[in-house]
Amino acid sequence: MSENQASAGPAIVVERLVKRYGDVEAVAGLSFSVPRGAIFGLLGRNGAGKTTTLECCIGLSKPTSGSVRILGLDPTSARDFAALRPRIGVQLQSTSLPEKAAVGEVLELYAAYYGITPRAAEMASRVGLEGKLDRQIVQMSGGEQQRLALALALQHDPEVVFLDEPTAGMDAFGRRILWAEVEALRAAGKTIILTTHYIEEAERLCDTLCVVQRGRIIAEDTPENLVTRYGGDATVCITADGFSPDDALRGLGTWAKAKDEWQLVTHGEPGLALAAVVTHANAISATVRSLDMHRPTLEDAFIAVTGETIGEGE
Ligand SMILES: Nc1ncnc2c1ncn2[C@@H]1O[C@H](COP(=O)(O)OP(=O)(O)OP(=O)(O)O)[C@@H](O)[C@H]1O
Ligand SMILES: [Mg+2]
Repeated sequence: MSENQASAGPAIVVERLVKRYGDVEAVAGLSFSVPRGAIFGLLGRNGAGKTTTLECCIGLSKPTSGSVRILGLDPTSARDFAALRPRIGVQLQSTSLPEKAAVGEVLELYAAYYGITPRAAEMASRVGLEGKLDRQIVQMSGGEQQRLALALALQHDPEVVFLDEPTAGMDAFGRRILWAEVEALRAAGKTIILTTHYIEEAERLCDTLCVVQRGRIIAEDTPENLVTRYGGDATVCITADGFSPDDALRGLGTWAKAKDEWQLVTHGEPGLALAAVVTHANAISATVRSLDMHRPTLEDAFIAVTGETIGEGE
């Protein structure tokens, strides 16, 4: 492939990727393509095959079959990998850093590896580690080490950034830093592929999201479309003395009554339905005992697609 062709296509193309470890099929035929400048997420539970997929993308693991191209280059070829290395940045799920080294030294070490001028102070400050350049790795918390790993992934200003569970174990401060960095990278036109099992993170950051289960992609779309396609209908529930829906309310969807509670299942905007229900209850002087609205979420879509729940602590 010529240099021109290599720079024109998608940032990442994965085709029919399979990775087996003995009897374990960690990745079972994954295909996806990430346009340049996009933020692409792999969402799935523990063991879904997310890390293995990323490892195949960055040349850390050799596919059993299938192919991977990053910026038109093949990470399993030594020659292509040498050309690719300065153009990609990687934050792994667990990075082992030299324990006795200081933050500033590690940033300098990585700069030397990439043949660039170190930007230790700037990078430390970008990830909330200002004033900690002299701190030894062994003296840093897990979340701080992860923030350093992010700085190490970004210092050489790569075009494509791989982030594997970038905020796992981070507190709210760390997450905000990571999210802000991802948004800054988006603004700078970088391509990002990230894995996560945090619904909120996936929804907030990703342009396109793949739901991965047992090494396969079982749904792929924008977070918004995934909710529309798989999240189910919105509901409004009301318990109110003497309440019953009039014709206008019946036009909003399907009503059912269980004990004292009326439930409306609506395809429309649930906020408007809720307002109409309350207005009607007031108009007929029905005293409202309870009122609830549920708007479908990405989590609902995930559960519908996978038949499993996802979330922290599971
Ligand atoms: N080196 C290995 N040898 C054997 N099995 C492996 C190896 N690496 C991963 N696996 C298996 O492959 C499957 C996918 O693992 P992978 O680490 O890709 O999942 P993941 O989606 O990243 O999960 P997590 O959310 O826990 O990080 C798992 O069943 C795992 O046990
Ligand atoms: Mg993983």
